[in-house]
Amino acid sequence: MSNSITNPIWSPPTLGELQNLEGEQLVQWELAPGDLYLKTNSGKILRLKRAGDFLELPWREKFKASKNLLWKPFVQTDKVSDLVKSFQHWQQAQDPVDYELAKNQFMENLRLGLRPDGGLKMIDWSFACRELFKSDSQLVEEFQNKHVVLYRRGLLVSSLAVLLSLASGYHDPRFLKEIYHVSWWLDAGLIHDDFSYWVSLACQEERWRPGGGDALLKENGASEKEVNLFLEHPRFGYEKAIESLGKKLEYPELLMSILRHHEKSDGTGFPEGMSLSVMSDWETLMMMADNMVDYREEVLEDHLHNGILTLWKAFQARPIEGLPVHRIVEKFRFWLRHPHVEVLSA
Ligand SMILES: [Fe+2]
Repeated sequence: MSNSITNPIWSPPTLGELQNLEGEQLVQWELAPGDLYLKTNSGKILRLKRAGDFLELPWREKFKASKNLLWKPFVQTDKVSDLVKSFQHWQQAQDPVDYELAKNQFMENLRLGLRPDGGLKMIDWSFACRELFKSDSQLVEEFQNKHVVLYRRGLLVSSLAVLLSLASGYHDPRFLKEIYHVSWWLDAGLIHDDFSYWVSLACQEERWRPGGGDALLKENGASEKEVNLFLEHPRFGYEKAIESLGKKLEYPELLMSILRHHEKSDGTGFPEGMSLSVMSDWETLMMMADNMVDYREEVLEDHLHNGILTLWKAFQARPIEGLPVHRIVEKFRFWLRHPHVEVLSA
């Protein structure tokens, strides 16, 4: 497994790296566009939130009056707003020729931007998706407050699913919005009291070795509840999503992806152990987005602060046998059209 981490492990910033933050500015943010700090009376600097974190309204209100807030911007808000405007321009174009031109321009800016030299990071794309498609704030808050690693994964998995959809030719904003929403739900079944360090290790192991998650739990003496949560989380998430989202969706068939996101083409997956020789594109691309994103905090940070090729290289370095994602892999590889991808795909 090769995962080169290009960002250094986080270390406390110096005062020179930080900017003052006014409470009024803070109140407008639902997601933190940078790391947020508090300077204590004794002069120490405490990190309150990381870039991308969800900021609940009561939390924002609480810190609004503070005179000691500082921040280090990470998200490139100008690039985010350019992406949002360019997507909206495409979607609102009436004339077929304008529509095609605007579409090509948006797709090309996105593709080139996410290359290593393009300056657009996955966190920027995640912010653009959040602005374009919104997400269920209650679910997002639950993720962040209970299991922050699942929250940060959700931020990435959902925007990656939209990217894979766009590259696969899905251009209807209503469909993209629902793909985005449903992708947040893939691991919602893990929001549970039995979620533990071992369960998160099992989720990570499953990415590297299909079937490995269950084995890891059993080899290490995890409790029956932990094993059950791991194996049943697709079903738990699916049932919760039907209740919460079912009637609101224009494409309720998307929900099936939650139930099936750990099934394999050879029947060795879970919870059903069905043999998925034929899957819809949307099930496949959500499965692929879920599979591309790591569960380890330091790797997630690296993914968020880089372009798409960091994620893609790590994904290409792993065997994907048993994952019925080849069709989407090919479409995405073709869309990326980058020399590194040609080398990686050999
Ligand atoms: Fe999962």
